[in-house]
Amino acid sequence: MSRDVHITDAVKTYGDFNAVDHVTIDIQTGELFTLLGPSGCGKTTLLRMIAGFNSIEGGTISFGENVINDIPAHKRNIGMVFQNYAIFPHMSVYDNVAYGLKARKLKKTEIEERVTEALAMVQIENLRDRQPANMSGGQQQRVALARAIVIHPDILLMDEPLSNLDAKLRVQMRTTIKKVQKKLGITTIYVTHDQEEALAISDRIAVMKSGKIQQIGKPKEIYTRPSNEFVANFIGISNILQGEIKENHQGDAQIFLTGGVSIHMKLKETGQKPVKISVRPEEFRIGDSTSPGIQGKIILKTFLGDYISYEIELMNGQSVEVNQYLKETAREYEAGDTVSLYPMESKINVYDIDGEEALVDEQKSS
Ligand SMILES: Nc1ncnc2c1ncn2[C@@H]1O[C@H](COP(=O)(O)OP(=O)(O)O)[C@@H](O)[C@H]1O
Ligand SMILES: [Mg+2]
Repeated sequence: MSRDVHITDAVKTYGDFNAVDHVTIDIQTGELFTLLGPSGCGKTTLLRMIAGFNSIEGGTISFGENVINDIPAHKRNIGMVFQNYAIFPHMSVYDNVAYGLKARKLKKTEIEERVTEALAMVQIENLRDRQPANMSGGQQQRVALARAIVIHPDILLMDEPLSNLDAKLRVQMRTTIKKVQKKLGITTIYVTHDQEEALAISDRIAVMKSGKIQQIGKPKEIYTRPSNEFVANFIGISNILQGEIKENHQGDAQIFLTGGVSIHMKLKETGQKPVKISVRPEEFRIGDSTSPGIQGKIILKTFLGDYISYEIELMNGQSVEVNQYLKETAREYEAGDTVSLYPMESKINVYDIDGEEALVDEQKSS
């Protein structure tokens, strides 16, 4: 029986430093929810508060209706998976997975049944008598996952579970985790610093910085409409251009960019002021030097399979990254060519000059 989790104005302090700084998140039953942010932003601290390994200095954490602030960890019915597996190396896979059930004094036949089911779920039935000391990192992490789900937890917590695996295994394991999670319908809170992993695995993501939530949304929302410049830069790649709102009729704005280019955007704001424009590599139309747009010179051309990545230096000296997809490409460019770049107005984002506030009016722009 999985359940929803409500984190309301949660605070964790170390001395006078807020490692988790007034965080509010509502997680639905069965959701795979990811805490994403750079190292040191407070992900593990928050996860340990949910698990019951950290005290909570302010706010509440509830499982369903029940506030669990003062419930000890072992009574929260949580399954956990860590980066470093934390399994017993010289105990068989079977005994590792059965460990939590024996501690709960279940009947032998039920233990047998549940362990068999959990091993099948993570596809390591054939390893049941092996010792993890002789197994690969990926296999050990499957043991850790089996051990976490075998107790039928209400909530599954995972802290950077893939960080010790090589790139190919990481992709394999994240697929396994997502499938197991969906099959069990178990509410899962997943921690990673890896934005690509977060986009791939999550139903929703909370992006964190310095103990604070920056944005909560579905992967696509976070990628297409980052709530501030930090998120735009942390998730995927963004080119940040300086611009100035010159004309603005109730949010119908003309923004002037470097190189004398003017774009038309629908904004929430009505004033005239300098702004930042965030353009992803795939959000520029690239044309020859006679087409309208910001002029630049190709510094580097990199072939990457289905697309070409160009490093382009603008006239003001700024360097931008631009992708050109082969299936939509009439003409390729070479290093040394002068090209012109036009930002796709329906896709790009506009922020105030501090990069803190998103100005695009999504209702009018979609
Ligand atoms: N036990 C502790 N005592 C003091 N500071 C801590 C402690 N644990 C974590 N911190 C600090 O809290 C911040 C968040 O840490 P952490 O939650 O581990 O970050 P993340 O998991 O996002 O990398 C960091 O600045 C870290 O140094
Ligand atoms: Mg951490």
